[in-house]
Amino acid sequence: MRIDRAAIEMVLSREFWRMAIIWPLTLVYCYARLNLAALFRRRPLPRQHFRRCLVPDSAGGDFKRPICIITGATSGLGSAAARALAGEGYNVVLVGRSAESLHKTIQEIKLEHGDAQLKAFQVDLSSLQSIMKFETSFKQWLLDSDLHPSVQLLINNAGILATSARLTADGFDQMIQTNYISAVVLTSILLPLIKNSTSPSRIVNVTSFTHRCASNLKLDCKKFSHMAISKKYPFASIYEYSKLCLLLFSYELHRQLHAENPSSKVSVIPVDPGVVQTNILREVPPCLSQLAFRVLSFLHLLQSPEVGVSSIIDAALAPSNVSGEYFFGGKGRRMGSSSLSYNAKVSAELWLNTSIIQEQINLLRSPIS
Ligand SMILES: NC(=O)c1ccc[n+]([C@@H]2O[C@H](COP(=O)([O-])OP(=O)(O)OC[C@H]3O[C@@H](n4cnc5c(N)ncnc54)[C@H](OP(=O)(O)O)[C@@H]3O)[C@@H](O)[C@H]2O)c1
Ligand SMILES: *[C@@H]1O[C@H](CO)[C@@H](O)[C@H](O)[C@H]1NC(C)=O
Ligand SMILES: *[C@@H]1O[C@H](CO)[C@@H](O)[C@H](O)[C@H]1NC(C)=O
Ligand SMILES: *[C@@H]1O[C@H](CO)[C@@H](O)[C@H](O)[C@H]1NC(C)=O
Ligand SMILES: *[C@@H]1O[C@H](CO)[C@@H](O)[C@H](O)[C@H]1NC(C)=O
Repeated sequence: MRIDRAAIEMVLSREFWRMAIIWPLTLVYCYARLNLAALFRRRPLPRQHFRRCLVPDSAGGDFKRPICIITGATSGLGSAAARALAGEGYNVVLVGRSAESLHKTIQEIKLEHGDAQLKAFQVDLSSLQSIMKFETSFKQWLLDSDLHPSVQLLINNAGILATSARLTADGFDQMIQTNYISAVVLTSILLPLIKNSTSPSRIVNVTSFTHRCASNLKLDCKKFSHMAISKKYPFASIYEYSKLCLLLFSYELHRQLHAENPSSKVSVIPVDPGVVQTNILREVPPCLSQLAFRVLSFLHLLQSPEVGVSSIIDAALAPSNVSGEYFFGGKGRRMGSSSLSYNAKVSAELWLNTSIIQEQINLLRSPIS
């Protein structure tokens, strides 16, 4: 293990200790709550395994594969989810930022599932422009492939843990834009197609137990860009915020969809995979991330992507009456998220604040005159 300057600098920061001490304690708390709840329940929740039969095409009679879009499908949980859902018979649309990784991921899935139907789109989720381009090319692809203009499953999985402040071309903090804003934009762009599904459809958002640590809410999208140019970047706090925002937004969308139409066939499900050994710590100096994974593994808290992905797959395949529930711990288990995440007033406010993004999108949409 090589200990370098960057590692020493990081160990000396408050954010590092937030990540190294508070996050694992939070995780232990989550598992303790989950297991205590099971202990005191008279009839323990069955460990469910949800399987989905392919949806028969109402027009034809032969089987049509449901379409599933996964963001960040080139690594960790995203690629594990793509592999698992290809195995379940989905037509999997992989969204990633590197053409090379997309190609590699597709080759790997094909090795395992020879008959898998896969399609890759290269999209930089930290760019509104790139997401708008995706909208056009995705719709064109549906048209060209003679597929029904609908989407059955959207998994907003892409996420980063950025350790330095970076501003995107759209003027947002890069971590906030990748983890939260991109999911808002992608969801709003695809919602008409998700609602157009003839079978029940859903949106699954990958959040994190770390959202519980975000307490003093200063969630102003404009402000995040100011934060990004300040010297000391509170990366752990911003990661927590981005995950809390995603959760607040999920519950708000669930509320709005079901208020609009109580029998809405669109489910919204946030999911927390726990701690998984992926590339998520890529920006943390290697000696520290390796140490972190070793300690977590010693504590039996670390999962492989193949195991960690199970809560995502549960959320994808569970019956639609679980809309709005928070999946954690795999095996179909659910629990409550932080009380702040259920605060309807805060989420309505966030919804309003997030509408500034819509203005930016409208600007991008309007033809240049
Ligand atoms: N690992 C954990 O312990 C853990 C715990 C709780 C929640 N989560 C959440 O799980 C999700 C998946 O993370 P992971 O652990 O699987 O991490 P990962 O291995 O780093 O995978 C992240 C994926 O997101 C993609 N991505 C990042 N920025 C992007 C951008 N601007 N445009 C398009 N794609 C982008 C990456 O693409 P490239 O490969 O091209 O970089 C990669 O495919 C994240 O939302 C994370 O917050 C993870
Ligand atoms: C929904 O599907 C129908 C065909 O079943 C199609 O005519 C319509 O354009 C689709 N709507 C959207 C928003 O794509
Ligand atoms: C919304 O924006 C206002 C003003 O910028 C800010 O004070 C508030 O904290 C924000 N609230 C949320 C939940 O984002
Ligand atoms: C996912 O997150 C996006 C952005 O926060 C939000 O628009 C959507 O309602 C969420 N959906 C679910 C299922 O959590
Ligand atoms: C959801 O529906 C299943 C059957 O499809 C049923 O067994 C289960 O009890 C329902 N759960 C809730 C929370 O309504």
